[in-house]
Amino acid sequence: MTMKPVNWHRHMVPKNARSRLKRQKPCLLWFTGLSGAGKSTLANSVDHMLHGMQLHTYVLDGDNLRHGLNSDLGFSYQDRMENIRRAGEVSSLMVDAGLIVLAAFISPFNCDRSLVRKMLKNGEFIEIYLNTDISVCQQRDPKGLYDRAISGEIKDFTGISSPYEIPENPELTIDTEKLSLTACTELIINYLSSHHFIEEGEW
Ligand code: ADX
Repeated sequence: MTMKPVNWHRHMVPKNARSRLKRQKPCLLWFTGLSGAGKSTLANSVDHMLHGMQLHTYVLDGDNLRHGLNSDLGFSYQDRMENIRRAGEVSSLMVDAGLIVLAAFISPFNCDRSLVRKMLKNGEFIEIYLNTDISVCQQRDPKGLYDRAISGEIKDFTGISSPYEIPENPELTIDTEKLSLTACTELIINYLSSHHFIEEGEW
């Protein structure tokens, strides 16, 4: 294999200097689960709460990225892999910039989620599995996609005609059927606080 003729340019401002300025430890909260599980809703709720605490955050959402950066990708195995790889790379840059990043992607395959985990430093990747049952997602069906998938109009639909691999070792599993949005949000804020991502002190 030939070496690429590009070198890594070291930044003058290191990550911990950005982190200190923001008074937070950057990390990636990665929300995974079926369409309709509540990933975007919960990510936005946590984002809203952290923002209210004057912390520095950003939400990356599968639906939104597919309008721009990932607009050339569909839902085949290969395209989803590339979708998650790009989302992981962007997230990793944002974490390097000192942000607490909230990423909401179905990300149905264990290997793709592991790849993103490996892009980050130890402890920085926090996998949050929303284990909402498909029957509940189908009932919620906020975008009316499940009916279209069942009729065959939408192909390769996760949970219907494309698989979802349950995370093997997520940092958090959240049951949105039993818990309110406020309770789910608090679980994540408590995780960040007990793992010292957000607190007063030295960074
Ligand atoms: S992922 O599988 O590659 O991680 P991503 O999170 O970016 O998916 O996008 C999922 C969103 O795309 C869903 O919330 C849904 O609105 C829409 N969508 C359209 N077609 C499909 C499909 N075949 N499977 C899953 N989601 C789809």
